Amino acid sequence: MSILSDFLREVDEGYAVINISGRVVYANDFMIKRGILKKDWEGKPYYECFNMLSFVSAIAECIAEKKRIKTLVEHEDVGYSVDLFPAKDGILLRITDITQLKRYERSKKEFIANVSHELKTPITIIKSILETLIEEEQDEKKKNMLERALRRSEDMKSLVEDLLIITKLESGEEKLGKESVNLWEVVELVFDDIMEMAQDKKVQLINRVDKSFKVYADQEKLTLLLLNLVDNGVKYNKMNGEVVVNAYIQDTYAVIEVSDTGIGIPKEHLPFVFERFYRVDSSRSKEVGGTGLGLSIVKHIALSHGGKVQVESKEGEGSRFRVFLPLK
Ligand SMILES: Nc1ncnc2c1ncn2[C@@H]1O[C@H](COP(=O)(O)OP(=O)(O)OP(=O)(O)O)[C@@H](O)[C@H]1O
Ligand SMILES: [Mg+2]
Repeated sequence: MSILSDFLREVDEGYAVINISGRVVYANDFMIKRGILKKDWEGKPYYECFNMLSFVSAIAECIAEKKRIKTLVEHEDVGYSVDLFPAKDGILLRITDITQLKRYERSKKEFIANVSHELKTPITIIKSILETLIEEEQDEKKKNMLERALRRSEDMKSLVEDLLIITKLESGEEKLGKESVNLWEVVELVFDDIMEMAQDKKVQLINRVDKSFKVYADQEKLTLLLLNLVDNGVKYNKMNGEVVVNAYIQDTYAVIEVSDTGIGIPKEHLPFVFERFYRVDSSRSKEVGGTGLGLSIVKHIALSHGGKVQVESKEGEGSRFRVFLPLK
């Protein structure tokens, strides 16, 4: 036991135990040193001992729901990851300092934002020079090479644009112009954009949205969200497949559904597909091109509207993405 208490005293994590009657009966030094608990905590009710209200509400939730709770508590520049384990005779609280991790994440995002910003102008210049050269070039072989270079610079341009959109959405800097939008019309516009690619694969695009269905959204962002989902629906489909867009009301949300009859996503990959740069397997993704930012943009657009996204999929059969947007 003394090894355990020595360890708990030295360790760079916070531990506390709250008994069944809601009193703090154990806390290690970390909890006091970091100012998480007041000095005279011993035997007092938990809601009188914690300095930050977020801890109190997390503990209250754990007591009420009797289930393990994981949450983040942020205070000024400091961030804590909080883990609460309910047991028969009380609750164990574990706190990890994630301030460094947060700083690292922030500087990574700033770095990406700055690099993307700096690349935008040179790429636009390279693109327009290549376009002029292609127009003037008579030699077929050289023209071919220039066209290849142009396609790669277009890929670079869309990568940089995607990164800039994500950066803006994440920072909350991008203001949404929400209005009542006719979803059927937006879906038709998106289908027009994707039509050529769909025809190449003989994939049918089906708009099942009711012509009077309205969503409360930023029209431009909503279009971008649907473009990414329908683009994936076609890109990861089989020849002669289908992509169907549908919408309905569920509780306080307008739900937009994009389903396809494509190759599907293996179960183990599903939790990660909305992460930046995540691509299911490089061999199948390489054939179709892309950077793995599309679904991350979809997620951020939904979140910035106060909504959420869900996916279900069966390998070999197809996928269904659902976007929930709060009603006005
Ligand atoms: N409808 C779908 N069916 C099967 N797999 C999908 C589907 N949508 C996404 N995926 C998988 O999830 C990965 C991430 O999708 P995401 O749209 O973020 O990136 P991407 O399509 O590879 O590139 P881009 O940035 O051009 O959209 C894809 O690489 C693909 O493997
Ligand atoms: Mg995509």
